[in-house]
Amino acid sequence: MMEATRALPAFEEAAAEAFAERVAEMANTAAVTVMVSLGHRTGLFDTLSSLPPSTSVAIAEAAELSERYVREWLAAMVTGGIVSYDGKSGTYHLPPEHAACLTRGAPLGNLAVAANAIPVIAAAHDRIVECFETGEGTRYEDYPCFHQMMAEDSGQTVVDQLFDLILPLAPELPGRLVQGIDVLDAGCGSGRALVAMAARYPNSRFTGYDLCADAIASAQQTARAAGVENVRFERRDLTGFDEKEAYDLVTSFDAVHDQKDPQGLLKGLYGALRPGGVYLMQDIGGSAKLENNLDFPMAAFLYTASCMHCMPVSLGQGGNGLGTMWGWETALEMLKEAGFEAPEKSTFDHDPLNVWFVSRKA
Ligand SMILES: C[S@@+](CC[C@H](N)C(=O)[O-])C[C@H]1O[C@@H](n2cnc3c(N)ncnc32)[C@H](O)[C@@H]1O
Repeated sequence: MMEATRALPAFEEAAAEAFAERVAEMANTAAVTVMVSLGHRTGLFDTLSSLPPSTSVAIAEAAELSERYVREWLAAMVTGGIVSYDGKSGTYHLPPEHAACLTRGAPLGNLAVAANAIPVIAAAHDRIVECFETGEGTRYEDYPCFHQMMAEDSGQTVVDQLFDLILPLAPELPGRLVQGIDVLDAGCGSGRALVAMAARYPNSRFTGYDLCADAIASAQQTARAAGVENVRFERRDLTGFDEKEAYDLVTSFDAVHDQKDPQGLLKGLYGALRPGGVYLMQDIGGSAKLENNLDFPMAAFLYTASCMHCMPVSLGQGGNGLGTMWGWETALEMLKEAGFEAPEKSTFDHDPLNVWFVSRKA
């Protein structure tokens, strides 16, 4: 009897060569991304955007940085298609169309902040290799500057939109905040959103809790600098959180999926609200199903952030590692499981990455 054989699919030589080219281009682009991060952190993009075409010496002087490093960085920027170069005069220029998404306060949003996420999460690369073998997790300390990067990121996606778009998602909130209510921000990070609200609503009282001491120190410093006294920050592990009916508004900005016990946290936040209170939650807007995320904006970036940071920091706390792409469907189910009867889901056209839920306690 002849043995059944299963033919392997034919090897497509051209497809393999095209894919190899793509992988090489990916490495090239990834390298430029690290340089974009450096341009942001050193302030070089901001300096360049204020200068006419200039030599590396003039740029380094204006930025108060080492000329040798600046020149090498500029070469990467020129070959990476970000900065233009005139070989005759030896001058470099950042076109205003490129500055429009690479500088602080840029009109299109500063995408160099997203580039900065790559070296921040890659700082744990070697540890993550070990984690693949052991299944263990990481600690926030494995990612130096994580909270600084996060504060800049949420500064754009949350703080800049807070008063015009986000708080009005629950139309009663701005008025109640003016009158004076108690507000908790769970997983407040560096506390920028809470300090902005405390400054705007002096009759309300604001509390921010976060696991990380460096984030809380930064939040306290920001509050002092802003001169607001109606906000307090405390280092607190929210695992098992059980303050009862102490707040009228609870917020969490991108701070549920990477917890040790996200469902337990949501139950705790429900319990912490007074009757009639509102829970305003922002998280990543992907679907729980991979097949639904194939066209989701920056999906590969988000799964990478998940694998390198959000999932392992939860696993590292002994948690279940939901991951960044836990999905809005899972979030809705978990909000209902926590006690919220009818969470309302919203998205903003200008920010397709994030999803917002307004949940009320009867
Ligand atoms: C992605 S960051 C968001 C921070 C901040 N809400 C923002 O938008 O910038 C998630 C935050 O959750 C905090 N976090 C994680 N696990 C926690 C826990 N068990 N208890 C309290 N905070 C926790 C982290 O320290 C981190 O600041």
